Amino acid sequence: MSLNIVIMAAGKGTRMKSALPKVLHKLAGRSLLQHVLNMTEGLGGARNVVITGHGAEAVEAAVAGPGVQFVRQMPQLGTGHAIQQAVPAIEGDGTTLILNGDVPLIKQATARRLVEACDGKALVLLTIHLSDPSGYGRILRQGGTADGHVLAIVEHKDASPEQRAISEGYTGMMAAPTAALKRWVSQLNNNNVQGEYYLTDIVAMAVAEGVPVLGIAAPNETEVLGVNSPVQLADLERRFQREQANDLLEAGVRLADPARFDLRGTLSCGQDVEIDVNCVFEGQVSLGDGVRIGANCVIRNASIGAGARIHEFTHIDGEAQGVKVGAGALVGPFARLRPGADLGDEVHIGNFVEVKNSTMAKGAKANHLAYLGDATIGERVNYGAGSITANYDGANKHRTEIGADVHVGSNCVLIAPVVIGAGATIGGGSTISKNVAAGELSVARGKQVAIAGWTRPVKKR
Ligand code: UD1
Ligand code: MG
Repeated sequence: MSLNIVIMAAGKGTRMKSALPKVLHKLAGRSLLQHVLNMTEGLGGARNVVITGHGAEAVEAAVAGPGVQFVRQMPQLGTGHAIQQAVPAIEGDGTTLILNGDVPLIKQATARRLVEACDGKALVLLTIHLSDPSGYGRILRQGGTADGHVLAIVEHKDASPEQRAISEGYTGMMAAPTAALKRWVSQLNNNNVQGEYYLTDIVAMAVAEGVPVLGIAAPNETEVLGVNSPVQLADLERRFQREQANDLLEAGVRLADPARFDLRGTLSCGQDVEIDVNCVFEGQVSLGDGVRIGANCVIRNASIGAGARIHEFTHIDGEAQGVKVGAGALVGPFARLRPGADLGDEVHIGNFVEVKNSTMAKGAKANHLAYLGDATIGERVNYGAGSITANYDGANKHRTEIGADVHVGSNCVLIAPVVIGAGATIGGGSTISKNVAAGELSVARGKQVAIAGWTRPVKKR
């Protein structure tokens, strides 16, 4: 049976007090709307219809992709009016699942329960019991009992004091028989306190037609909470981060403090991984067995080999290219690895060392205050403190090649393109602009002079 998925995302989000459309605000690095779209993957929907309105162009540009279709709702006259706009885009005699672009943490298992319970025949509402249901549409049940048949939804603003005392609220998510849904929304009116076309009015229509209406309780509050303000966004962010942290802890990862952990993407971990406080992981990160990450590291799009140690305050950003750190490597504290840094096993990168688009073979070391850009570094190279590759001539990038066992002294400038042969030594303070043969010592600096009897100037009184 065909499944249509409709995601309402046309609302303004006034309380966000932001120029950015509400559904584009980010939770764990992804937009609220993207969370909902990702959740629908694998549900078996024939199409995702996203209803846009406020900031439509920005919203459409942000989440466009195969299987996503947009319908514009201008102006926004209520949730029922929103679904009216989607009618031409939904097809078949199956089920239509209606979700909200600002309710990001709904789980697929819950959505699937709605779709299965609907089965193209029943109207299924996702509900939640709340200690404070203010603002929510209330589920009216026969006899006012928890298991009484659902009769209608009454919006908070239209509800009587007795109805407002009902704790069961409508979450804004439902599954409906597609053909009936189209018929029902065409019959809506806006005779209510807010002067809006309420989607929730279809419940009473279904009841009147004898269509079964089911209220299914959400498994928890987190899945159905919407974002209307920065405070609510921050609350959901922490809930989501805590969930991710718990999953990692349960998988054996040792987080020093799950409340001080942020994952904005995916993190895969081997056995016996330890992560200290205040680390941020973004994009795709993988940590091999026994990796230890010190406090206050930011790691994005990188893979860290088994047993490697990333010391405190290290910044690793692979961007699109990625960063690779070999097994047993030591990195940081205060190191910076940029796109294309590819460190072999047991490489050491110390404080204030920046590596970009460079390969370092096994056992190579750059322990202090250095820059390695567009370089190929052989095994066991020792790259001295304060040395840099001058890889950029103002227009083009050039490569520096350093053979195995080279010793680069402190404070050297290697002007690329340049090749340093295996086993060569570069004297400290050298500016190297010509290739160096294997095994040779090159020194390129002014000779030291001594001026006998020289006296330092003194201040005149
Ligand atoms: C809606 C429900 C209410 C439920 C609550 C849960 C209706 C009439 N009421 O109320 O029963 O308890 O959600 O949060 O449906 N939207 C559009 N176009 C519009 C209006 C809204 O796309 O014209 C979108 C919004 O962007 C949002 C969603 O629909 O994603 C819900 O709209 P909102 O205004 O928050 O509905 P509520 O008044 O909260
Ligand atoms: Mg509202």
